[in-house]
Amino acid sequence: MSKNILIFDTTLRDGEQSPGASLTVNEKIIIAEQLAKLGVDIIEAGFPIASNGDFEAVKSIAQIVDGPVICGLARAMDVDIDRCWEAVKYAKKPRIHTFIATSAIHRDEKLRKSKEEVIAYAVRAVKRAKSYCDDVEFSPEDAGRTSLEYMCDVVRAVIKAGATTINIPDTVGYTEPEEFGGRIKTLFENVPEAQNVVISVHCHNDLGNAVANSLAAVKQGATQVECCINGIGERAGNASLEEIVMNLKTRKDYFNVNTNINTRELYKTSRLVSSLTGLYLSRNKAIVGQNAFAHEAGIHQHGVLQSKATYEIMNAEDVGWSGENIVIGKHSGKHAITALLEEEGYTLTLEQSNQVTEKVKELADKNKSIERDDILAIAMDVLGQLSEKEQRIKLEGFIVTTGNGMIPTASVKLLIDGEEKIGAGVGDGPIDALSNAVWTIIDPSVKLEEYNLKAITGGTDALADVSIKLRDANGKIFSGRAVNEDVIKAGVMAIINGLNRVMNASQLSSKKSS
Ligand code: KIV
Ligand code: ZN
Repeated sequence: MSKNILIFDTTLRDGEQSPGASLTVNEKIIIAEQLAKLGVDIIEAGFPIASNGDFEAVKSIAQIVDGPVICGLARAMDVDIDRCWEAVKYAKKPRIHTFIATSAIHRDEKLRKSKEEVIAYAVRAVKRAKSYCDDVEFSPEDAGRTSLEYMCDVVRAVIKAGATTINIPDTVGYTEPEEFGGRIKTLFENVPEAQNVVISVHCHNDLGNAVANSLAAVKQGATQVECCINGIGERAGNASLEEIVMNLKTRKDYFNVNTNINTRELYKTSRLVSSLTGLYLSRNKAIVGQNAFAHEAGIHQHGVLQSKATYEIMNAEDVGWSGENIVIGKHSGKHAITALLEEEGYTLTLEQSNQVTEKVKELADKNKSIERDDILAIAMDVLGQLSEKEQRIKLEGFIVTTGNGMIPTASVKLLIDGEEKIGAGVGDGPIDALSNAVWTIIDPSVKLEEYNLKAITGGTDALADVSIKLRDANGKIFSGRAVNEDVIKAGVMAIINGLNRVMNASQLSSKKSS
């Protein structure tokens, strides 16, 4: 009989560590609910000690999301483990995941601890976690660069202390597939008790090997894979969930394993994560990229028309890619719009559905034909809106003047914590002028790092989708996003959305009064 491979999703923890991917608590809940629909076995919902926001997100997901095990991360320290338990204890199936670095370089340079001390910390942490819950995972961080002998010693000790899952991370994405698979093989050969626990792997993509390394480990007996939707994560990211799952499914003849994933939910989960994090996919991204199932070359098109199997190894429908573009107009009701959004994996409150419907009708009234992508963009805009309390900066109005042979100029009126501020600026173009006007009012230590403009559908009346990245004085990246039929308004609203996120996280101060 085929074995089952557990899919441990860490999009909300390691994935959220991607620069600029920071998500609000609400956004994390929306993603977690979709992950549950997708059928992941474990959701790593966050790192509760890291911030109050992380704690709240893990706690809310533990309270709300049903189905998967809800896991929180904790360093091998009492305070971390206690805080982690406070957040995950609400889940029907809670897990504490604790870790400590084991490679020589991390032990010597980062921890300044001997091998024996590191083992003592690991054992103590597992025992403390175990005093709270049965399901305890342990990771020897940077296992990929840890001597095999010492890695086995650590694993033996933590299994004895009660760990039920042992995760072998290639933290810096250094290993090659055969080597990483070999590491798992050696672990099973040298630590017989590893047969009684779940052996997991967690691979980073610095050399582009994350998926291949994870699959090599499955081939050697690993039964849990840690991965992220769209392969997001620290630096070059983590192993991509959709690629792992579709490898295991498409090449069942080779791996002979199953997963609990409903692959038809992959495409919509990918879009949801991409929209909420502002981390867009390249068109040729495997499985979920826009071109993943497109055939351009005539010879390929001809072959596919004769028989799909000539050039397609998977069915687009199996990953939930429908490719349709339904047309919704001003006569479409809330039900049609909500049904479409539900089908795409968006769970909206009644108020949010009303807002989306209202905006869709407003656009349709302007004689625009509305396509599926317009509705999804509007829904993302509504979902990404901050609560009234979080909107400390509000756009009161703006004027932009531009023309051939003129220097674009702009003035803007903002309400910051209820106080009216006016700024004026010039720039290379209208959006640059408006952004400069905003920065005459805002703390200059916050920098605009990235500005991306996308037209949702074709035509001069296309909705403009603007996503931006800001860097605060501490180097932390925040994203902002807005959708509007007016490209300039979408730009300034995206900047304000991002500034509010910075302001909520720190105490962004206004520079001067008008
Ligand atoms: O990459 C890593 O080592 C991690 C651990 C915390 C598992 O993310
Ligand atoms: Zn990691």
